[in-house]
Amino acid sequence: MKRFSTIAAAVLLYTTSFAQDAPQLGKSSVKEVVAAMTLEEKVRLVVGMGWKMPGGAARPQRRANTDRPKTDSVSKEGFQLPPLDPTDEATPEKVAGTAGRTHAITRLGIPTMILSDGPAGLRIDPYRNADSSRSYFATAFPVGTLLASSWDTALVQQVGTAFGAEIRDYGVDIILGPGMNIQRNPLGGRNFEYYSEDPLLSGKISAAMVRGIQSNGVGTSIKHFVANNQETNRNQINTIVSERALREIYLRGFEIAVKEGTPWTVMSSYNKVNGIYTSENPALLTTILRDEWGYKGFVMSDWFGGRDAVAQQNAGNDLLMPGTPAQSKAIIEAVNSGKLDVKLLDRNVEKILNIMLLSPSFKNYQASEKPDLKSHASLTRAAAAESMVLLKNEKTLPLEAGKKITLFGNGSYSLIAGGTGSGDVHKAYTVTLKQGLEAAGYVLNNTVAAGYAAYLTDQNAKRPKPAIFFMLPPPIPEMKPDLDLVNQSADQSDLAIYTLTRNAGEGQDRKVENDFTLSSDEQAVIKEIADAFHKKGKKLVIVLNIGGVVETLSWRDEADAILLAWQPGLEGGNSMTDVLSGKQNPSGKLAISFPVKYEDVPSAKSFPGHELDPNYKGNPMMGKPSEVIYEDGIYVGYRYYQSFHVKTAYPFGYGLSYTKFEYSNLKLNSGSFSENLQVSVTVTNTGKTPGKEVVELYLSAPAKTMNKPEEELKGFAKTHLLNPGESQTVQIVLTASSLASFSSNLTRWVAEPGKYKIRIGASADDIKLNKEFTLDKEILLPQLNKVMLPQVAIQELKP
Ligand code: BGC
Repeated sequence: MKRFSTIAAAVLLYTTSFAQDAPQLGKSSVKEVVAAMTLEEKVRLVVGMGWKMPGGAARPQRRANTDRPKTDSVSKEGFQLPPLDPTDEATPEKVAGTAGRTHAITRLGIPTMILSDGPAGLRIDPYRNADSSRSYFATAFPVGTLLASSWDTALVQQVGTAFGAEIRDYGVDIILGPGMNIQRNPLGGRNFEYYSEDPLLSGKISAAMVRGIQSNGVGTSIKHFVANNQETNRNQINTIVSERALREIYLRGFEIAVKEGTPWTVMSSYNKVNGIYTSENPALLTTILRDEWGYKGFVMSDWFGGRDAVAQQNAGNDLLMPGTPAQSKAIIEAVNSGKLDVKLLDRNVEKILNIMLLSPSFKNYQASEKPDLKSHASLTRAAAAESMVLLKNEKTLPLEAGKKITLFGNGSYSLIAGGTGSGDVHKAYTVTLKQGLEAAGYVLNNTVAAGYAAYLTDQNAKRPKPAIFFMLPPPIPEMKPDLDLVNQSADQSDLAIYTLTRNAGEGQDRKVENDFTLSSDEQAVIKEIADAFHKKGKKLVIVLNIGGVVETLSWRDEADAILLAWQPGLEGGNSMTDVLSGKQNPSGKLAISFPVKYEDVPSAKSFPGHELDPNYKGNPMMGKPSEVIYEDGIYVGYRYYQSFHVKTAYPFGYGLSYTKFEYSNLKLNSGSFSENLQVSVTVTNTGKTPGKEVVELYLSAPAKTMNKPEEELKGFAKTHLLNPGESQTVQIVLTASSLASFSSNLTRWVAEPGKYKIRIGASADDIKLNKEFTLDKEILLPQLNKVMLPQVAIQELKP
């Protein structure tokens, strides 16, 4: 007995002194903390935890009052992912419903960091532990594509600042966003989460969002790095892309966001690029991201992304999410067998700890759990209205106050605030267009409204659940209103508004039929309304409440005005009303081109790639082995339409206003380029309504040794609100990198000597002024590394 207590006392003495002596994060240097960690502790840090499959874990959950079928009660059937650690799964969450956490190591003063989706608002459970006395709803901000259409980095930063406050106030450390993949093809299922088809716009908007969010002392994770431009087979797709297209189109936006936003973290993507999973590729995560761009934060994998935990650690994919016991085991074995140098593991641990030092959890920040949802809702309302794009207006908008309106279309009565999957948000409410118009004093046709309400209630009850919990359920078919009722409403109302909706989300790309194109019912309803109202000399306005591009040519003549509202966040109906009523003069411009038909899209033939093994029988959740060859090369979006003279329905950069602008006085500070070039241009509001204008600077570069797009966006500026008659001179600076293209021969960006043409446009098609300058001598930007090359020849498009 005596002997036992002596041993117990010795053990106690040892553990206390061990704990007391152990360096503490924040008190000792990160290196000292890492040096004190056991191998198991290091691995605990690089392998995350805390993901709960919706419906899989026993977590009492109240449902959010959102407008679409809930996905949290879907069965686990067919959903086989690598098993998680049961102890982790049982560790209580501080914030319910987040996507994941890191492990705490208390003896070293290392807390848990909380990571949560997603790009358009904080995705957490609205209720906790079946307690309905308190809710934790978050703001559904406008989706990425809509915010980018503002072309206003100050506005985006302001939205980011509000978003970051919500993240902080709800006790989360890092938000899994912004999403910033290039919208290569209009069918991309997550395009709504992303910003643009153009890397400059995408990079600048992302950087602004990151700066805004992080100004609150919380972190971001720009995602999905890189070339994750589709959802089909996303876990196994091999993206085959040329070195130049990778550098100029797919990496460029991330480079801007890294350099100008300094995100705390970067999320690697699910796909392979040129044969290697992005999360396992040291050329991407170390050579390009760290060595070339100077990135100092950490990289996390997408959830269950990649296959080989050791290769991921080796590549510099510091944190594996959501983390599995199999990954921990593999890393421990690899270090013990010498397959993984422990120095690399230490490097990764250090990167995570360096960021952890900045986090609210480390600082023991006591979250208020009371974000200012009210002011965020007003900001959302204003930001969405500010960003919407007016596509057509034949003397129809703005609508006079008090007009009698008949609202058609399911979407007029059921707003799509944002897309599905991890990009969704549990919001307390959404404002429909009907509610928005009513609140603004318009008189609505109640008979038609009642018909839609009954139809939607019935259809919602019948709507099947999605096959896999995060996927989109089939949309509710468009209601076909009775023709007599349509004619009657044309008699009784001053005008008709029809709302077209589209939704999409992760795990699935969109289709051409009945998605990119309108269904025959949608076409028929539009035609019937247009005929009935036009016969009476009355107008039809079409509102597009969509997450991705749709075909417009076949029906747009039926409409007298078209407002592209995208997916505008929880105040959507109010934002739409603000634009329709003229309270807000629209100033958004397209961040993605609208092609005439799907076949015109440069990636139409190669998207979404082809399967490689017809007999593959793996887990359907994880997709099939497949590849997609980016034959469109650098000719993505307007770079293609402009260079190959293919007409679009609405070009990149397009958007109307209730006023008119004149461009004048294009000046360059020099006729020849040396270090940089200052461009200035004056914009005058020549109409009768105050308004803002986006000025777009495109550059045509000489094509001596490389082919070049007809024009590329190299800068943009948005004016302040110009009163009628008021002018503003905006400045845009071009640097050597604005002039340069990536030379695969030299493995560096090169500005070729010769004549350059600056085109100042109101869209990619509508060039108002242009001026030439010369570059006398070739400029070579720093030497880069020859990495991530395709293993097969690509037949790339060339003009
Ligand atoms: C998505 C990520 C998301 C993660 C965590 C993945 O399926 O691709 O964008 O952040 O899940 O929810």
